Amino acid sequence: MSTQPIEITTPSILATIPSTAATFLMCPPKLYDVNYVINPWMAGNVHASSRTRAAEQWQRLYEAVSTIANVQLVEPQPGSPDMVFTANAGLERNGTVAISSFFHPERQGEEPHFRRWFELAGYKVIDTPRATPFEGEGDALFSTDGTRLFVGYGPRTVPSSHQALRKIWGIEVTSLHLTDPRFYHLDTCFAPLEGGYVMYFPEAFDQASLDKIEAFYPLEKRIIVAESDAVCFACNAINVDRTIILNNISSDLRHQLESRGFDVIEVTLTEFLKAGGAAKCLVMKLSQVMPDGRPAR
Ligand code: ARG
Repeated sequence: MSTQPIEITTPSILATIPSTAATFLMCPPKLYDVNYVINPWMAGNVHASSRTRAAEQWQRLYEAVSTIANVQLVEPQPGSPDMVFTANAGLERNGTVAISSFFHPERQGEEPHFRRWFELAGYKVIDTPRATPFEGEGDALFSTDGTRLFVGYGPRTVPSSHQALRKIWGIEVTSLHLTDPRFYHLDTCFAPLEGGYVMYFPEAFDQASLDKIEAFYPLEKRIIVAESDAVCFACNAINVDRTIILNNISSDLRHQLESRGFDVIEVTLTEFLKAGGAAKCLVMKLSQVMPDGRPAR
């Protein structure tokens, strides 16, 4: 693997983003690698990703996200190669962040680094208990109307962590059981989209969870993803207004999204798939304005 330094180029487009736009937290992949196996995608891929290619792919994603949102950066830290997947840092809403309590010891070292970033940025930080693992926005997604929090459980997050989230934000929580080890985080198989749509891979859930999804989203709002797209992390999509940014998908799925009015931007993310993540795992959504009232950049 190449050890050459990685330059992060700030896209000039950033200057044109209004401060009221969506904000995402990203972590440059300077120290990214597949160092251990904590999900099925990592098996056979230890040290098999190219840091140079990962840097190029991440840069493309960074540029694409910067055209629709503000981007904040957190410094990667030695010993935390998965820190690039900022979706797992925690869950933020209205200036309060519930910091993740990772299931695997391999990622627990990230917690203080993310915690420090949020404290310095002025957020109210709430620790979640080690005894009840919770992996942040990787497993917890708000409906786009903000009325409900969908939280996955099974491989990582435990259901007993959901009650704390309900209390923190006083929001209705719908717990969804993830039953396929390949789709070990909710954001790998489920994406609430603007316009009241949802894009998901049904086979990743048990029947009771599918019933809950169908109770919230009427038939005409459900975009069902086939297995061939699901394993390319199609559901791992970043959505701001009508724009969707995701890994490469089939022309059929692209057409389905476009016919509902979405602009689709595909960014090749092969190097991150080797760690079990893609577009949405590489960003964490933040409130538009920092808690101290400053615009978010
Ligand atoms: N290797 C990381 C892990 O297994 C990938 C995390 C992907 N993140 C996500 N939000 N799905 O934890």
